[in-house]
Amino acid sequence: MSNAAVFIYLAAFTFLKVTALNTKSFPKGFKFGVATSSYQIEGGWNEDGKGEHIWDRLVHKGPFTVKNNDTGDVACDSYHKYKEDVVMLKELGVNHYRFSLSWSRLLPNGFANKVNKAGVQYYKNLIKELKDNGIEPLVTLYHWDLPQPLQELGGFLNSNIVDCNWFTFNEPVMICEIGYGYGYSAPLIKSPGIGEYICGKNLLLAHARAWHIYNAKDCRICD
Ligand SMILES: *[C@@H]1O[C@H](CO)[C@@H](O)[C@H](O)[C@H]1NC(C)=O
Repeated sequence: MSNAAVFIYLAAFTFLKVTALNTKSFPKGFKFGVATSSYQIEGGWNEDGKGEHIWDRLVHKGPFTVKNNDTGDVACDSYHKYKEDVVMLKELGVNHYRFSLSWSRLLPNGFANKVNKAGVQYYKNLIKELKDNGIEPLVTLYHWDLPQPLQELGGFLNSNIVDCNWFTFNEPVMICEIGYGYGYSAPLIKSPGIGEYICGKNLLLAHARAWHIYNAKDCRICD
């Protein structure tokens, strides 16, 4: 992970790496983990059939709100270097790793009628690599990278988003507040006092819909 990612909140990762993990002072069974998000680390922004998402659009077409015009086009290049990343996770001594699925990598148009097999294979490979190394994968289904075609339809201001219901959310408050209220995060919709509430309602409904699907299928969301 040598290249700087655009949006890094891997402070814990760095901290653990520097101090070396001492698991002895924690209770038995304590679960150690680190987390990333797809846009922060993957790169490969248009490779093997991945579609465009709202951050790709913002950093390529503007308005240019990111410092130095940095992009996540390459980021940590985890799309190509996931095996090295798993080696580093192992070195850290963590037994859990949370990452997010790039919706646009799996469903390039945002909809389920076109599945990108290479994207599916990427996550299968990553999950296998993690399991082979004794690290349990924990998946975030949505970490802020909405497919651009869905944004064209209104994004989280369109209640039909609830039917695109296979995701649940990283930091839902932030998605709505800074994406649709203050509007300084993609898709830059400045509608304070209105946009974030409509977005919030639709996000909650989408989450509930996804939860019921998990529940019906007896999926394990958390321990
Ligand atoms: C970012 O790119 C835009 C468009 O090319 C340009 O107008 C702007 O000056 C650039 N900003 C920086 C900090 O390089």
